Amino acid sequence: MIKILKKIKQYRIYKYSFLLVFSSFYEFFWQYIINFKSKILYFYFKTTNLKQNYFNLSNKPTFIVSDDSDYKKIAFEINNELTTEKIEKAKNEFKLKFDSSKDIKDYSINLTNYISDDLMKKIINFSTNVKNIKTASEYLKVLPYLAKVKLYMNIPLKNKTPKASMLWHRDDFGYKSLDLFLAIRKVDNLNGPLHYVNKNSLNKIFLQVPDEKKEKIIGERNKHSLEHFDKFIKKENTTTFVGNPGDGLWIDSFRVYHRGGHCTENERYMLRLSYQTSDNTRSNSLDDNCYYYDKSIKKVNIKKILEKHYFFGHKSSFISKLNLANNLIFLYRLVAIKIRKFKLS
Ligand SMILES: [Fe+2]
Repeated sequence: MIKILKKIKQYRIYKYSFLLVFSSFYEFFWQYIINFKSKILYFYFKTTNLKQNYFNLSNKPTFIVSDDSDYKKIAFEINNELTTEKIEKAKNEFKLKFDSSKDIKDYSINLTNYISDDLMKKIINFSTNVKNIKTASEYLKVLPYLAKVKLYMNIPLKNKTPKASMLWHRDDFGYKSLDLFLAIRKVDNLNGPLHYVNKNSLNKIFLQVPDEKKEKIIGERNKHSLEHFDKFIKKENTTTFVGNPGDGLWIDSFRVYHRGGHCTENERYMLRLSYQTSDNTRSNSLDDNCYYYDKSIKKVNIKKILEKHYFFGHKSSFISKLNLANNLIFLYRLVAIKIRKFKLS
């Protein structure tokens, strides 16, 4: 079966018919069958928030926000708490705790534990405000849950060779998601800005850059060196997210190739929010009773159905019983068309 599929995939007609027909069919299946409950909640949310403003991505998987007062306000409040003393403390504790034999992310420090409970509540409120939820749900076409709330700083590496998420990759955990990267302090070319593919025809789940024929290193599965990636994606089809505090990038990191965090000189401060659906491969590891990023949020205390979904919508017995999340990832990889090397002129 796999051999037949590989043969069929070599024909151009397969490429076009597959991308056009199968993708549309699968999108419908994903929304109405796999995410049935989230689809119903999406309609409920939509009808109750018809007049609320949001950022309309128009089905495109990236969108830049600048000069938004809510975004600037939360960035300002976070920055206010990140004093020099706190940053130094975080860096020193990171150096003591860090074990390079177990953890390859020696360039990213989680700052969530260094902020007050009050600020964490403000970040959670910002994450679940109507504007952000509507932006994510109008892109996904189902109501997502808040899968990640991460405040972190990237620090310059002693060894300047890019690794892990500094290499080109997609977050290979599902079919569709939407993340907000919010700059807390200025992001420029010296503090590891996020680079991403900006050509929408390349940002398809069923279209992939072929793997390099090299030995895989831990944490670098499905990641591509800069040299390898350049053979398939032209530089003019990529862009860089640089900006001021409060500027944001909405990006579907499951579909858009990206790399970031390779600071050469200075530190980068970022808030990352991730809106996902229960068919991603990491949803099973989340707590069913207390919200992972704010333990004071308990499922038993939430009465509103939408709010319950924002914090605990990761669970789907239908998906867990069939091990659907992992099987679907396998399917996406199996049927995906490999992007061809472009010819140098
Ligand atoms: Fe990533």
